Order: sequence, then structure tokens, then C-alpha cells
Amino acid sequence: MIKVAPSILSADYVNLQRDIEKVEKGGAEYLHIDVMDGTFVPSISYGPGFVKAIRPISKLILDVHLMVQNPEHLIQDFVDAGADVIGVQVEATSHIHRALQLIKNGGVKAEVVINPGTPVSLIEPVLGMVDQVLVMTVNPGFGGQKFLPETVAKIAELDKIKQERGLNYDIEIDGGVNDKTVVDCYKAGATVAVAGSYVFNSDDPVAKMNSLKEATK
Ligand code: DX5
Ligand code: ZN
Repeated sequence: MIKVAPSILSADYVNLQRDIEKVEKGGAEYLHIDVMDGTFVPSISYGPGFVKAIRPISKLILDVHLMVQNPEHLIQDFVDAGADVIGVQVEATSHIHRALQLIKNGGVKAEVVINPGTPVSLIEPVLGMVDQVLVMTVNPGFGGQKFLPETVAKIAELDKIKQERGLNYDIEIDGGVNDKTVVDCYKAGATVAVAGSYVFNSDDPVAKMNSLKEATK
């Protein structure tokens, strides 16, 4: 069964605590927080202050996805804010190894993220040092986009490397996830599913989360 990480990018910001409590009581394992800087991706979302505000109201694993250029400058702020996992896009820095080291030195789980156009080979040298790999299943920047099926082969590739090298990172998927698209990803080796619009643009977010679990039983 896949672990579920609702993305609050699609939550109701005016009633954010209510939405977070709903998914937490409903069995979410993670809370996915999308940080966008208007440079690496066109949109702007929120920063470390947002994570700091959420920390005391939830026991969920705060899974912070940095869609920012040169993330190494911001890592300490997100560590201090109380993130449990910090993900950095390999395309956003010339120093992916250093960025991951900074995350680990902060005592936080380190994640490397690849865009749909980025091959797994680019992150092979750092796979031994990460706790999680995020395979973007849409181009980052917006919620509500259509799942890109060609990304599934990369999940399988990462799963194979994991077995062959005896590593134990989680494989997370993000973008266009629903009860249909999650199935092939799970079969290929995905262990955590981010879902934004599918969960929150619904009258019953908990039923939507359950449908992801049901589809991957
Ligand atoms: C996309 C973000 C996602 C987004 C997913 O740039 O990284 O986490 O919230 O949204 P959905 O599930 O609606 O595709
Ligand atoms: Zn994300």
C-alpha cells in the first residue's frame, strides 16, 4: 500500500488548520509542502515561515519540496522551521552533493528531485546518500496538471538500482496523481504518493486518500 502525502498547495489557505487536521486524522503519512520561488518555477508559494507555523499544529512528516534556484542558501532556514524531509531539485544547483550534505548535517532526511526531462543517471552518484528520491510526474510549478506516463520507467529504474545496490530510499511521485495513475507507479516501485488537487479539490479528501491506498493494496 502506498503512503500518502497530501500537497497543501491545493488546500484552503483560509482554513488550512482544518484541512491539515482532516488529512492527518484521515490517515495521511506525510504533509507535502511545495516551496516555489518564481525563478526555478514561474509561481511563488511560501517560505520557511509557513513551515514554522504548521509545525506545532501537526505531527505529520513535513515533506518540504524546494522548487527554488540555489536551494543551498535556504536549507538551514527550513531545517530551523521544523521540516522532516527536505527535497532539492538536481536541476536547481551546481552543488547537489553539498546541498544534500547540508540537509543531512541539519539532522533532516534528504531527498533529491528530478524533473520529467532529467535522466536518473544524473543523480546516480548521490543515490547512496539520500533517504528519498522524488520523481516529478509533471513539470513542476502548478497543481492540477496531467500525469506524464513516460516518467514511470524512471521509477522502475530507481527501484532496480535500489535493489542492486542494497539501498533503501523511498521513491516518491508528484504531479497528476489519482487512483488510476498511482497504480503503474506503485507497481514500478513508488512508495510515497503526493496528491494535491485530487485530494483537496474534493468534498471528501479522506475518501480520495483512501482510494489511493485501495488502488495499491
Ligand atoms: C507541482 C507540485 C506538486 C503539486 C501537485 O509543481 O510539486 O506537489 O501540488 O499537484 P497535483 O496533485 O494537483 O498534480
Ligand atoms: Zn511537490
